[in-house]
Amino acid sequence: MTQRYKEKHRPQFHFSPEEKWMNDPNGMVFFNDEYHLFYQYHPFGTTWGPMHWGHAVSKDLIHWEHLPIALYPDEHGTIFSGSAVVDWNNTTGFFEDGPGLVAIFTSADNYPESDRPRQRQSLAYSKDNGRTWVTYEGNPVLSDVNITDYRDPKVFWHNETNKWVMVLATGQWVTIYTSQNLKNWEFASEFGKQAGSHDGVWECPDLFRLPVNGDETNQKWVMFVSIGDNPQFKEGSRTQYFIGEFDGTTFVNDNPDETVLWLDYGRDNYAGVSWSDIPAEDGRRIYIGWMSNWRYANQVPTEEWRSAMTLPRELSLTSSESGVRILQKVVSEIDSIRNGSEVYQELTIESNQPALFNLFSPLNEMNIEFEEQTSNSFGFVFQNSDDEKVVIRYDVEKELLSIGRTNVGDNSFSESFPTVQEASVKMENNRIKLQIFLDASSIEVLANDGKVVFTSLIFPNQPYEQMVLFSEEGYTKVSSLTVTELDSIWGK
Ligand code: FRU
Repeated sequence: MTQRYKEKHRPQFHFSPEEKWMNDPNGMVFFNDEYHLFYQYHPFGTTWGPMHWGHAVSKDLIHWEHLPIALYPDEHGTIFSGSAVVDWNNTTGFFEDGPGLVAIFTSADNYPESDRPRQRQSLAYSKDNGRTWVTYEGNPVLSDVNITDYRDPKVFWHNETNKWVMVLATGQWVTIYTSQNLKNWEFASEFGKQAGSHDGVWECPDLFRLPVNGDETNQKWVMFVSIGDNPQFKEGSRTQYFIGEFDGTTFVNDNPDETVLWLDYGRDNYAGVSWSDIPAEDGRRIYIGWMSNWRYANQVPTEEWRSAMTLPRELSLTSSESGVRILQKVVSEIDSIRNGSEVYQELTIESNQPALFNLFSPLNEMNIEFEEQTSNSFGFVFQNSDDEKVVIRYDVEKELLSIGRTNVGDNSFSESFPTVQEASVKMENNRIKLQIFLDASSIEVLANDGKVVFTSLIFPNQPYEQMVLFSEEGYTKVSSLTVTELDSIWGK
C-alpha cells in the first residue's frame, strides 16, 4: 500500500474509496463468493458531483479490493443510487450461459430545454462477475413525468408471486412496482404518504423479510426509508424504518402512522440498504450505510477522499413491549481483525474518582457492562493529549444514553457537527451493555445487543489514548470491560 490510507483521519477498518468523493452504498449483491459494493462516486472531486458507480469486492465484508469504476454517466444522465440482483433464471434474456448480474439504477439528467431534474430507472448487466457492464439499449425502463424525486430503485425477487418487486422513492412516499423481466414494470401500490417521518424527501428505500425472535414461522417485513436533510431539523439526514406485512403488492404498516422508528441515533448513518442474494445457507440480512450526513458531508475535514461506510451489520427482529424492533450486530467476520485484548472484571468506580485505562491507539473495540449501584450517571470518556474527547454517558433517572462530540477534535467545519446525540435506553437487570468500535474518525456504539445504535463521525487531531471511566454522585460497578486492539484492513 502506498501513502494512501495513512492520511490524517483516514478510517482504518471501514470502507472508504482510495480517493475523491463517495456517498450512498449501491448495488450490494453477493455472487460467486464475492460481496459486491458499488457506491455513489465522483471521481473528479472531493465534493458531490456527476455521479458514477465506484466498485469494490470482498470475500468477508471487512477487507475490500478496489475495482475500476463500474458505471459512467451516459446519454440518459449520471448514475444515481440503485441496486443489483442475480438474474438466476435469465428473466431478462441477457444471460444465455448461466446467471449474471443486473444493476437497476436511476439515470439523472434534466428535462430537455429545462432545468427541471429528470430521474428515470435504467438497467445494466454484467456477464463477468461485475467486472464489465453493458447498459441496456432499452433504457430507461421506468419513468413518470409527474414525479420529480423519483429514484433509488431497490429490487428483489418475490418467490410467492414469481415476480421482481421494486421499491422506489417517489417524493415523500414509496411506490412499489412489479415485473417479470426487469424491463417492463407495472405499478403495484404506494406506501407512506401519511406514515412515519416526513422531515425530508424520501430516498433509498429497501424492503425485506426477517423472522421475529429467530422464529421462521413468524416473519415480518421491514421497510427502510432514508429521509433527506432539511435545515429545519437539527439531525440532518437520517434513516427510519417500518415493520409490517407485504403480499407481493402492498406493504401494510403494523404501527400507527405517527410511529417513527429510527435505525440509528447517531448523526452519521444514511442511505443504508441490504445485500441481495446472500445464499440461504448463510441466511443473514446484512446492510451497510453511508457514514456521513448531508448536513456537512461536503465539508468534513479530509483532503484526499471524502466519506466512509459504516461497518456492515447483520439485522434481526426482536419483539419488545412496544412492538417488533430491529437489532443490529456487526458481522462476525470482524473477528478477522481482532488482535490482543485486555480484560478487566468487577471494577468499582467511585464517585468523582475516575478510573483510567490505556487504549490501543488508535483502533479499538470495547465491550463493557455497567451495573447500576448508587450513582445517577456513569460512563466514560475517550481522550487524547490535546484534551479532545468523546463522552459516553448514561443518565440513570432519564434512562438516556448519550454520545457527546462537542469537543472531539476538529469541529470547525459545520455548526451542526458539535452535538450530543441521545437515545432512550432501558437497563436490563440493572445493567447496560455497550459495544464500541473506535476508528480514526468514527465511533459506533451498540447498546444492549444492538437494540439502540449510534454511528458518529469524530475528527480528533491525535488518536485517543485513554479511556476514563466515571461515576457521578454515587458509585457504579463495571462487571466487565474488554478492550481489544483492531487491525487496519488496508495492510501495514
Ligand atoms: C441519497 C441520494 C439519493 C440519490 C443519490 C445521489 O443520499 O440523494 O437519493 O440517488 O444520493 O448521489
